[in-house]
Amino acid sequence: MTQCGCFITIEGLEGAGKSSCLSQIERLLRDRGLDPLLTREPGGTPLGEAVRGLLLAPAHHGMSAEAETLLLFAARAQHLEQVIRPALQAGRPVVCDRFTDATYAYQGGGRQLGEARIAVLEDWVQQGLQPDLTLYLDVPPRLGLERARQRSAPDRFEQERLEFFERARAVYLRRAERFPVRMKVIDASRPLAEVQAEIAAVITRMLDDGLD
Ligand SMILES: Nc1ncnc2c1ncn2[C@@H]1O[C@H](COP(=O)(O)OP(=O)(O)OP(=O)(O)O)[C@@H](O)[C@H]1O
Ligand SMILES: [Mg+2]
Repeated sequence: MTQCGCFITIEGLEGAGKSSCLSQIERLLRDRGLDPLLTREPGGTPLGEAVRGLLLAPAHHGMSAEAETLLLFAARAQHLEQVIRPALQAGRPVVCDRFTDATYAYQGGGRQLGEARIAVLEDWVQQGLQPDLTLYLDVPPRLGLERARQRSAPDRFEQERLEFFERARAVYLRRAERFPVRMKVIDASRPLAEVQAEIAAVITRMLDDGLD
């Protein structure tokens, strides 16, 4: 089996199409003889999935921004130790539906905690580990929320006001400008087939460049 211990994350607002693109990316990697591990945040471990339940439950509407951020990083610490680092060390690509860019966007931007406080936790938990490639699926919040609402009842985040998502989107776009090599902005307001064609081109380029 070919080896590529590359770490790919998919980011975007609710309903941007992250989950829809995950299985396509899996197929692309398998076609290249790789054995990808697909996972998600918050979640990815039994502890992380339990934390996800706490984070998304509308019942916890009074959760402080700080408590929320610490829960996200607690789940992330477990995910890194139990799943992500071992897979990368074994030479498997890891594809993760959301990662720390989402914390900068939602808690840093949406909840207005700011970047600096997130960066402290990022350093503490990740100790320098960063994704090799981040696909940021960009959609106007209204469009994403419409798509998400057609799919299921709104979770605690999806109940936020439009301004929350506008702030989150602005952070995503700012980070994409700041990290142009790692982060690729994909216009996800287009039909899924077009979005997937662009993703295929980006992944193929990454594999051909031998990013491992
Ligand atoms: N480019 C697209 N055009 C139209 N519909 C789309 C597109 N991408 C995804 N969808 C549809 O929108 C809905 C949300 O997509 P998906 O679940 O993949 O988004 P997501 O980014 O994973 O959302 P969440 O953040 O809520 O998990 C699904 O019903 C999906 O079929
Ligand atoms: Mg999803």
